Amino acid sequence: MNRRSFIKKAAMSLIGGSLIFQQNSCRRRKERPRLTFLHISDTHLQEGIPAYALVREKVDAFIDAVNSEQDFPLPDFVLHTGDMIHGEKLERLLPECLFAKQTLDRLACPWHPVVGNHEVIQREGHPQYQAAYEQVFGADRVNYAFERSGLVFILLNSSSGLASPTVNIDRIERPDKADIIDHLNRHGGDWLPAAIEKRNSWLQEVLRDTASAQKIVACHIPLISIREEEVLRQSFGFFSYKMLGDELVALLEAQQNIKAVLSGHLHLSGAVQQNRITHVVTSGFASYPCHFSRWAVYADSIEVDFYQLAPHLVTPETNIHGARRHGKDFTDDLHPTAEEYVAGNSDENHRQILLN
Ligand SMILES: [Fe+2]
Ligand SMILES: [Fe+2]
Repeated sequence: MNRRSFIKKAAMSLIGGSLIFQQNSCRRRKERPRLTFLHISDTHLQEGIPAYALVREKVDAFIDAVNSEQDFPLPDFVLHTGDMIHGEKLERLLPECLFAKQTLDRLACPWHPVVGNHEVIQREGHPQYQAAYEQVFGADRVNYAFERSGLVFILLNSSSGLASPTVNIDRIERPDKADIIDHLNRHGGDWLPAAIEKRNSWLQEVLRDTASAQKIVACHIPLISIREEEVLRQSFGFFSYKMLGDELVALLEAQQNIKAVLSGHLHLSGAVQQNRITHVVTSGFASYPCHFSRWAVYADSIEVDFYQLAPHLVTPETNIHGARRHGKDFTDDLHPTAEEYVAGNSDENHRQILLN
């Protein structure tokens, strides 16, 4: 196997192999970035027969490629925005978290986890359901922050999909209101408002303490809709195509220097700018288009590029936004083809985020 074929710039696959995206500003730069990191997500690792095809092979190939520096120098760290495991049953959470940690610890650089809904089966903050994650990754890795090269990274547990501790069901005006009520009945409980309150209070405190620093936030469930909202609601098929409620995004948009929010969960790739903040969702490896993103931080900007795994590890049958699952493909105004809808258009495949 050609070692250089493990991963490729995602944009190249959208434009028939043209090299045009190798000429982006990242490649033109002469100076070395002061920091680089990779954003991965939704690996849905599990032992035995996985729910998503080839997940272990994909993660192993990714780690080998990163460690051997065959496509770019070893990053400073890797950020995993959740659904590291598939889970689904309480008794599977601990062994799968252990397996995911053992697998991802092979990375030659540090990596930082974010809680996804699959790590806790949607029960954010539930002492029993969150116990496996805390035991394996650390109770101090639920809502936490760190600083690198002058940037503050804030990692949030958004695994319930709820932005606010109180959801007023009477006020919900969405076509999927019945799904939301069902979700809250099945996965909610007394612990949930307290857990969300604690997360939001912690976030406010961190934002106060780091007021002058430029910041990047990572959370599993996107804060805003990354596609035309009604289309995404249908193609994703779950109410959590974005966080329910605007409390978190309003909190961040009130700040002057939140530069980006990184998320996963949707199993598609895209980027949207809203009120100065660039929201980037990376599909991760379980589902097509099997992307991760590389972030190169320079003095004046951050360059973000999507990469796709090599063709033998790309699994079109795992596309959850297309005809295989729904009997029809989806498009919206900015994504006129099914491929762009799930893998992002050319604007999304390379983004430049200006720093102060
Ligand atoms: Fe996922
Ligand atoms: Fe998820």
